[in-house]
Amino acid sequence: MASKTTKSKAAKSTKKAKSTTAKAAASTTKKSTTTKAASTTKKTATTKAANSNGKAVESKAASRNGNGKATTQKSTEATAQAAQNGGSAINIGIEDGKRQAIADGLSRVLADSYTLYLKTHNFHWNVTGPMFQTLHLMFEAQYTELALAVDMVAERIRALGYPAPATYSEYAKLTSIEETPGVPKAKEMIKLLVEGQEAVVRTARSVFPAADEVNDEPTADLLTQRMQVHEKNAWMLRSLLEE
Ligand SMILES: [Fe+2]
Repeated sequence: MASKTTKSKAAKSTKKAKSTTAKAAASTTKKSTTTKAASTTKKTATTKAANSNGKAVESKAASRNGNGKATTQKSTEATAQAAQNGGSAINIGIEDGKRQAIADGLSRVLADSYTLYLKTHNFHWNVTGPMFQTLHLMFEAQYTELALAVDMVAERIRALGYPAPATYSEYAKLTSIEETPGVPKAKEMIKLLVEGQEAVVRTARSVFPAADEVNDEPTADLLTQRMQVHEKNAWMLRSLLEE
């Protein structure tokens, strides 16, 4: 039995306690002996308490049981923050207001990306003329990439603790790209897509200061990737318009 429990990182990290910890861990539910117990979250870090005596392994179970003594001050703070955040306590080193500013900016990037996705798909369907094959395929590559990109942007917003806008009405309010009524000629489609690609770049660039200010590297990385893609797409589309 003891050998089983040594599988868990929790048991590994508590060599000093050895058999005592093993017994304590073994006596708890399976969950507490899994690697989840050894996860890096501060809540589960209280498994350290199990090193000193067998009573421990109190963290989650004790909290759930309403044992006030076992609830650490940090978990109280986390609970208060969780209440403010509507249930999700986030402590990634960026204060709430700053995270919100970044999430708002990313929401505009998302709205631009989704609007450009639809416009590009529209033109893929409706383009005509001697350049049909070239444009039909080029637009397909671009909207396919955008379909994946919107997921990345939306999930970054979620990781920052905010809801990702996901309705046409929200996108219409947030985007800097205008819808195109009717079916333009092929050359006009290209022009409109150059403008759309450039619009996403400008929006993404405008979010950088907020991300930089708080060393939000994951957001900065995402924005960099998006700007690279859209600047390249704009160049390729623009090239089609040159004589
Ligand atoms: Fe298609």
